[in-house]
Amino acid sequence: MSATSTRVELCKVSDVEIGGTRKVETGDLVLAVYNVDGEIFVTDDHCTHGPGSLSEGILEDDIIECNFHGGQFNVRTGEVVLPPCMEPVKTYKVTVEDGVVFIDV
Ligand code: FES
Repeated sequence: MSATSTRVELCKVSDVEIGGTRKVETGDLVLAVYNVDGEIFVTDDHCTHGPGSLSEGILEDDIIECNFHGGQFNVRTGEVVLPPCMEPVKTYKVTVEDGVVFIDV
């Protein structure tokens, strides 16, 4: 963690079912939290292509499909998997402690 980063508590791991997603708002951030077979990943919730909310999309393994136009991102890296999305979505470094999910911002 760099000296300038801040750790922010998001939710409990148990709040996000395996294979599921959850939207978490904290401060100015609107985030999508994903549970990929028990491993937690976090991206911005807002799709980089338009008004889609990624936490309302469909998660399959580590790929989230935006429910707006069907674009896909890898939730581990934020990289685009399928257009029409062109820009990667921002990802966050996740720490889990005692079943609680934190990110560095
Ligand atoms: S808004 Fe997400 S694919 Fe278009």
